[in-house]
Amino acid sequence: MPTPSLPFTPPETPLPIIEPFRIKSVEPLHISTPEQRRRWLDAARGNLFALASEHVLIDLLTDSGTGAMSSEQWAAMMRGDESYAGSPSFYRFEQAVREVFGIEHVIPTHQGRAAEHFLFSALVKPGDVVPNNTHFDTTRANVVACGGEPLDLPCPQLADTASREPFKGDIDLEVLERVLTGPRRVPLAMITLTNNAGGGQPASLGNVRAMSELCRRHGVPLFVDACRFAENAWLMRERDPELAGVDVGELVRRTFALADGCTMSAKKDGLANIGGFLGMRDPKLAETVRRAMVVTEGFPTYGGLSGRDLEAVAQGLREVLQEDYLEYRHASVAYVARRLAERGVPVVHPPGGYAIFLDASKFLPHLPKSQYPGQALVMELYLEGGVRACEIGSVMLGSFDPETGAEIPARQELVRLAVPRRTYTQSHMDYLIEVVARVHARRAAIAGVRIADAPPVLRHFGAHFARVAPCAEVPC
Ligand code: F0G
Repeated sequence: MPTPSLPFTPPETPLPIIEPFRIKSVEPLHISTPEQRRRWLDAARGNLFALASEHVLIDLLTDSGTGAMSSEQWAAMMRGDESYAGSPSFYRFEQAVREVFGIEHVIPTHQGRAAEHFLFSALVKPGDVVPNNTHFDTTRANVVACGGEPLDLPCPQLADTASREPFKGDIDLEVLERVLTGPRRVPLAMITLTNNAGGGQPASLGNVRAMSELCRRHGVPLFVDACRFAENAWLMRERDPELAGVDVGELVRRTFALADGCTMSAKKDGLANIGGFLGMRDPKLAETVRRAMVVTEGFPTYGGLSGRDLEAVAQGLREVLQEDYLEYRHASVAYVARRLAERGVPVVHPPGGYAIFLDASKFLPHLPKSQYPGQALVMELYLEGGVRACEIGSVMLGSFDPETGAEIPARQELVRLAVPRRTYTQSHMDYLIEVVARVHARRAAIAGVRIADAPPVLRHFGAHFARVAPCAEVPC
């Protein structure tokens, strides 16, 4: 006879949330001194993209392709079939995408921007406008490359980085309606989940639904930029009491049922180091893309990826929906944001799913936008503790007045601390908090920067910087 188990009363205070994995393979970090970092930053002329990654201690430049894969993903890679056409790895990939998103036509690409390129090349004509809550930089560049104009229509709440509105990633429906009824052709509308350039904020299910209805009424297809689809679904449920108890996978299906297709970078919520896809319902559009892609991207059953990559993504798309993973990921980001806010650091509220955003205008209020406070701040974070962050402000998103040539600054000067998935531990996060707090403590003495030279497109990747007064003579 088995012994009956004792009655169990759950404790009132739940146990802490921990990383729901243990480590099988480790990679060394390279500890550096402030003097070394100063030399390396000088050699990079202030651009953190130009640093050797071995000279970075905690790399928060991006969450894209930088995560750790699981043992199941590595196991799946061994199954990768490298046939040029019709590989079983493609069919497993296609099946995973159909299952997770409910979208029929699946075209693999080497990463998200290639999916954007093929989608816009098929739909966007010179003079068109493409609305989005906020275009990511490559999305914007790909619209422009087709002669279109990318329009950012974030909801007004996004502008206030201190407000705790739950869904600052929503698109502004009123302005969208004006665009849809306006004189210019709109070949497609997009919504980016979560709104990356807008602080990683989620959009609500209600907003996507209303957008979908509006687009349908005007005969405009709706595409989702799906990079962080699982994180958006998690935040939808966390922040919308009506969705309490709904399975995250179910929420993903409900969201994508409202769309005509999606572009996806599997380097984010695909939990893979490379990969992406274009998904759509329209078979004619799919055929157009399949024909175009063979020239530069590859045959439509591999799209610039190896069979092994397809397998890693297929497994990753299912794993990313595991609730213990999503709970830990959001708890970890929220922990850093909370601790920084407690120490008086201006962070964007509420924290999104994949990054902590600092409001550089508030962090360095003595620096005008023309002195790029976000760039000045990322340079200081590196010098202080070897932390590499990413400016998402006027360096990345600034534009130029076509008539006067004058620079138009970005709406916000943000610094993004993007957290790679399943890569850093709690003590790395504590180190990060300490580095940011120390820079904050000496903020009044931080000088602004100017752009010494920059490429014309996507200038943040190649620009060089010099400090301006009070230390104008000091080269970066
Ligand atoms: N859309 C969004 C919202 C993104 O964040 C990115 C990439 C892309 C599209 C393009 O995807 O890199 O696979 O070609 N974001 C990375 C970042 C690079 O750092 O935020 P990709």
